[in-house]
Amino acid sequence: GKGGYDHYMLKEIYEQPTALRQTIRGRSNQLDNRAELEALPRGVFSDVESVHLVAMGTSYHAAMYARTLLADRGIPAQAFLSGEYGSNPPPTGDRTLVIAVSQSGETADTLSAIRSVQGTGAQTLAVTNVVGSTLTRECEDTVYIRAGPEIGVAATKSFSAQVATLVLLSERMSQDIQGGTPRATSDLLDSIAVLPDDVQRILDESTAESVAKAYHDSDSYFFIGRGIGHPVALEGALKFKEITYDHAEGFSAAELKHGPLALVTERTPVFAIFTGRNDTKTLHNVKEVRARDAPVVAVAADGFGEIDEYADHVLRIPDTHNDVAGVLANVQLQLVSYLAADELSRPIDKPRNLAKSVTVE
Ligand code: F6R
Repeated sequence: GKGGYDHYMLKEIYEQPTALRQTIRGRSNQLDNRAELEALPRGVFSDVESVHLVAMGTSYHAAMYARTLLADRGIPAQAFLSGEYGSNPPPTGDRTLVIAVSQSGETADTLSAIRSVQGTGAQTLAVTNVVGSTLTRECEDTVYIRAGPEIGVAATKSFSAQVATLVLLSERMSQDIQGGTPRATSDLLDSIAVLPDDVQRILDESTAESVAKAYHDSDSYFFIGRGIGHPVALEGALKFKEITYDHAEGFSAAELKHGPLALVTERTPVFAIFTGRNDTKTLHNVKEVRARDAPVVAVAADGFGEIDEYADHVLRIPDTHNDVAGVLANVQLQLVSYLAADELSRPIDKPRNLAKSVTVE
């Protein structure tokens, strides 16, 4: 059941600290600064020269996030919508690793993307929540995100668990491919260890309710961010449109001046995501939208005091490593979407036209 919550979505948002503890258990070895993923023996990625991540929807946003993590570690990586990948396949070979990211492990587009590389020599890896799902049978290796069952159609805890898993996987790959201990590992593993508590703090202290109350009757909502903040902006907008039925659009803050700014008015709240990298540039974009009288809701670290002067609301996240800051920012946006949809009395767990698992292409 819903365990006293009005909706599965809210229950699953609140389950995130527990889900993340399960995700990271035994995988973050702080003693010798290594990430360990039980199913993957050391050296399994030694020959990998490039990574293709394939996924849809929320899982695609986790894939985009991982692309940036891998690129930061010097590993060439691209994220693809699996529904495009199968029909327009890029070149692959025996040094390509194809990672399929899927909560259900049953998404038809993602299964067919994996089937399209079978026989090309590419290595395949499933990152999924569902034990024994079709995807785990189609891929050579599997890493489970261990989020526990997700019932709400809108994916929430699975995104957090996917990203945490992909952070660990990126570290693991970088250990195999480059050897040695990458520079930032110990800081990062410390941040991963406290991630469940950081999420709990957000759940306890969030002021998302005042944001949801202030803005649930606007025309359109924009979400902007840079780096890992870009997929978080896309995810914030996807969740918002799915359950409120209002128009919401996410894009890179870098794109703003190249078109979307034309739509920004006093009727279009802009959610700006700050993750601790390139924040000054995103702050500049915030100034641009403010000059058009748009309300600004910033999601920013406790330590980013400068933002207070430029935002109508600031949703705070604990100071942490940039690689995991996006998970925290996303939790604030999940709460905003949920509370805004609740204000509008939407059927949050079963949005119209959507299914939990899309098993046809
Ligand atoms: C969004 C949502 C969908 C799924 C997508 C992929 O809230 O739930 O966009 O993320 O259909 O599903 P999986 O991850 O099961 O492959």
